[in-house]
Amino acid sequence: MTRHLTVVDHPLVAHKLTEMRDRGTPTQAFRRLLREIGLLLTYEITRTLPMSTRRVETPLREMDAPVLTGRDPALVSILRAGNGLLDGVLDIIPSARVGFVGLYRDEETLEPVRYYFKVPENLDDRLVIAVDPMLATGNSAAAAVDLLKEAGASDIRFLCLLAAPEGVGRMKDAHPDVPIVTAALDEHLDGNGYIVPGLGDAGDRMFGTK
Ligand code: URA
Repeated sequence: MTRHLTVVDHPLVAHKLTEMRDRGTPTQAFRRLLREIGLLLTYEITRTLPMSTRRVETPLREMDAPVLTGRDPALVSILRAGNGLLDGVLDIIPSARVGFVGLYRDEETLEPVRYYFKVPENLDDRLVIAVDPMLATGNSAAAAVDLLKEAGASDIRFLCLLAAPEGVGRMKDAHPDVPIVTAALDEHLDGNGYIVPGLGDAGDRMFGTK
């Protein structure tokens, strides 16, 4: 992928995202919609996966038909909201390996601190797709990508549902080599770090914790 930011402009994605933004959408529907959009965005983020061919025999004749080549991609969920998006990606890449990154914000330094990190082996030889629905300040996304690079990953892409210009800018400064795919680029962050107009707290809405 060459573009740093791709906003997937597709009627199905746009319609489902509108349903997710609606504050009246219940938890169960929110989760289903996130999973469905995750699947649709994966179509875009995997567009440049390497291919080779395999000889197959159709009922009519033999042919060299395209197949994916190389190691299975690694999906890395940024906890906890990443898990909701992860499900849709796994629906369409069921052979993917899966990792998890847990970060919290230190109240004094405001810096992200790692509390969990478990990723597949051979990250250097895989496409690594980091998933987190909300790219807000970009601090945790940038810190997660730092950790993935330390673990050897070099082909990293970032998949999110909604992005704020602040988060996109932060990622472009910290990781210009990491393309971002999102369903929408919203207006700005509010004083509490929420994306506006956004959809609220994605974790709370998908897990029903508020
Ligand atoms: N995280 C969320 O869940 N929502 C936002 O708007 C920003 C960050």
